Amino acid sequence: MKNVKCKKKILFSAVQPTGFLTLANYLGVLKHWKDFQNKYSCIFCIANLHSLTNLNTSINIKKNILDTLAFYLACGVNPSKSIIFIQSDINEHCKMNWILNCFSYFGELTRMTQFKDKSKKNKNVNMGLLNYPILMMSDILLYNSNYVSIGDDQKQHLELTKVVAKRFNNLYGKVFSIPKNIVFDRGSRIMSLCDPVKKMSKSDSNEKNSIFLLDSRKNISEKIKCAITDSDNPSKIFYDKKNKPGVSNLLNIFSILTNNTILESEKLFFDYDYYSFKKKLSDIVCNELCKLQDRYFYFRKNEKDLLDILCIGAKQASIIAKKTLKLVEKQFFF
Ligand code: TRP
Repeated sequence: MKNVKCKKKILFSAVQPTGFLTLANYLGVLKHWKDFQNKYSCIFCIANLHSLTNLNTSINIKKNILDTLAFYLACGVNPSKSIIFIQSDINEHCKMNWILNCFSYFGELTRMTQFKDKSKKNKNVNMGLLNYPILMMSDILLYNSNYVSIGDDQKQHLELTKVVAKRFNNLYGKVFSIPKNIVFDRGSRIMSLCDPVKKMSKSDSNEKNSIFLLDSRKNISEKIKCAITDSDNPSKIFYDKKNKPGVSNLLNIFSILTNNTILESEKLFFDYDYYSFKKKLSDIVCNELCKLQDRYFYFRKNEKDLLDILCIGAKQASIIAKKTLKLVEKQFFF
């Protein structure tokens, strides 16, 4: 038999180092990275250039970079298996960004939902906010990514990445790999606890809506206790996103954390009332997050090791980014 050596496909992902990560970031994105490492060649970036779009003087991005890296490690990202790097360490992102600017249309960017939302909410509608998806495209395309792991709210940016990459390839030949989204069979969209038709977000003004990865046991239990369910009496625990968004959201969180299907979770809670359902769920969430926090503090305390990991990652990322950018520039420049 022929011995065919399969090259692993490339998976890219990134998180912005802005403030605290939430349970939604964890369940939708970070929790899956550990296992991806066995299947793909993984590249995990800390998107600090993106976080400049939403800067205020109370945000300490340098500290947040190390916090974010410690979370990556706590979630099981292994620097001897995967490349981990800071976006701003690789200058090629900015040059690629400029080139891709010239292949993206103004109308495409003003149509992006995130841009529309942020320009309504923010006082500071800077050019970075409009350009944001093109910088994301540059991240993804520089590393020939076959797969991209993203939260639900970033899907539109990935779709635009595909459109622009194909547009470029139609003109210049197969320069870019066209990336695919990693799709989960189970809902990755975690909703706000008190307003379950809105997504859980780290920038929510009401802290009770989101569980942060560093919340204490007490805080987590209180937030889950206050989560909105509905007025069904007696309690009825089943999944119905439209008519029971609160209960469905809690069932979804339970099923992702315990690897049960929604159906299995519904069966488990068949004769529970909302109070004991929430009690059980908060035990599960607390146990998972407490273990995560222990690992987080273990990695976070040694800054020298964290900086070393980023330094090695930057060297590895640089080799790939330089090669791709050269291939792009070859089309236009000496
Ligand atoms: N914008 C993403 C977020 O806020 C982070 C990000 C930046 C990203 N560049 C990326 C995600 C490239 C995937 C691929 O979640």
